[in-house]
Amino acid sequence: MSGINTKGKMIHLVSIDSTNTYLKELAKKGEAHFYDCVIAETQTGGRGRLGRSFSSAKGKGIYLSYLIDPKSALPNELSEITAWGAVAVRDAICEVCGTDTKIKWVNDLVYETKKICGILTEMSFGAENGKIQSVVMGIGINVNHDTEDFPDEIKDIASSVKMLTGKHTDIEKLISVLVQKLDKLNDDFPLNKDYYLTEYRKNCAVLGKRIRIIKGDTERIGTAADISANFGLVVDFDDGGRETVTDGEVSVRGFYGYI
Ligand code: BTN
Repeated sequence: MSGINTKGKMIHLVSIDSTNTYLKELAKKGEAHFYDCVIAETQTGGRGRLGRSFSSAKGKGIYLSYLIDPKSALPNELSEITAWGAVAVRDAICEVCGTDTKIKWVNDLVYETKKICGILTEMSFGAENGKIQSVVMGIGINVNHDTEDFPDEIKDIASSVKMLTGKHTDIEKLISVLVQKLDKLNDDFPLNKDYYLTEYRKNCAVLGKRIRIIKGDTERIGTAADISANFGLVVDFDDGGRETVTDGEVSVRGFYGYI
């Protein structure tokens, strides 16, 4: 990893439970700075949104966590950061692998009906003053996986860059470009939003599609109509009315495959 040009420190681990947990702990102890990132060859307890796990086959993918500078962003701006990250990761994969992935609102990259990347941003707050302690963006990319590298339960919905292109990707090269995009994102956030919003809208996989919005035990059906200025999903619900769904405990599913 020595040839990688980044604004922060890069910590390379062979195996860890979760790079997000590791970087959050470093930040809590004051041992990590904005722009720093942690990369692991494998994770034994990789985590995704909504309490899900993230399968992290050794040496096959990128499992990376990056410390974002929240600056003086407002809480609603901070909740957009995962969407900004999706644009940055999409750009890196496109540049290095020539693969034109789409963004499944809010945090996944997909190709046709299968997932190849997930992003989990976690914020920690100081117990004594309630102030933001850290904003860690965790990115998991399925790069050189073959079908047998995925657990049975996700074989039907997961894919990798290799499975799409038939080509092996130089993981170090992809990390290098990805970290440069994340450094730029960190510089751009929160003021230079236009590029991220335009690209998000242009490459959003769900717009115009029939979707199910699942929250706990309830499910509503509608059509994804737009992405709002703060990256919410604007939905025309079948049971009446247009509403903007924001990230949180919501899962979006289509009717075929993963999208
Ligand atoms: C999701 O699919 O819902 C998000 C997956 C995020 C996975 C990445 S891998 C690096 C970082 N460490 C984790 O434990 N999770 C994120």
